[in-house]
Amino acid sequence: MLSPLNTEIVGSRSFVYESIGSTNDRALEVGGDGSVIVADRQTAGRGRRGRTWHSVSGLGLWFSIAFEHDTNGLAFAAPLAVRDAVRDICEVRVKWPNDVLIEGRKFCGVLVERRGNVTALGIGINVKHGTEDFPPELRDQATSLERATGQTVDRGDVLRRVLTALDERVIVIRSGGIESVREAWAEACAIRGRTIRSDGKEGTVRQVDHDGGLLVNTVGGEIKILFGEIVELDV
Ligand code: BTN
Repeated sequence: MLSPLNTEIVGSRSFVYESIGSTNDRALEVGGDGSVIVADRQTAGRGRRGRTWHSVSGLGLWFSIAFEHDTNGLAFAAPLAVRDAVRDICEVRVKWPNDVLIEGRKFCGVLVERRGNVTALGIGINVKHGTEDFPPELRDQATSLERATGQTVDRGDVLRRVLTALDERVIVIRSGGIESVREAWAEACAIRGRTIRSDGKEGTVRQVDHDGGLLVNTVGGEIKILFGEIVELDV
């Protein structure tokens, strides 16, 4: 699934598994700056906030990259890399903080975890799922590249494109350009000026802060939302 890459950092080593618990766990174990771990199936794939990430064999891309230096900004770089990788086949939207959506439905999620000096950047992309491949409770909210575009999509090709685009962003970050990557991400989220709800609080997003947090005007004054889920009320 992983053909040779023409990259500087991402893909320094690669580990491909038929089945594994979670590629993020493996990335945290093996470390090595730029190591890529890909699995056809995860038996304990996880999402943000302790959720399960359904990682069935043959349908998606489940992979992680280990980083050991300059790990700030990875959560901004990952959704941009996915967007750039699929640009030729569909238009996507980045939903704050790092989900990637097609026509309002999520097809990609990102999970950044750190252990010691290793950071795992985990990316899950639904590629070949049809409606019935999703659990019933997710069918309205989730999609895949093939379901959304009606085209046949090659998983290896998407993987190579994402890793190449990610490498480009990581190089920019490491050459002092984190601010430009953060700005591109904030732009892709198109969140400024939107009315949102989070944990029962409603307000209008005034700005995206340097750490990626949302500065939101509410009736009770300005609040900052750093983590969690938001509902966009005016999309
Ligand atoms: C989310 O949107 O909740 C984040 C989903 C992240 C899923 C990926 S799949 C590869 C990597 N390994 C995991 O266990 N999770 C991430």
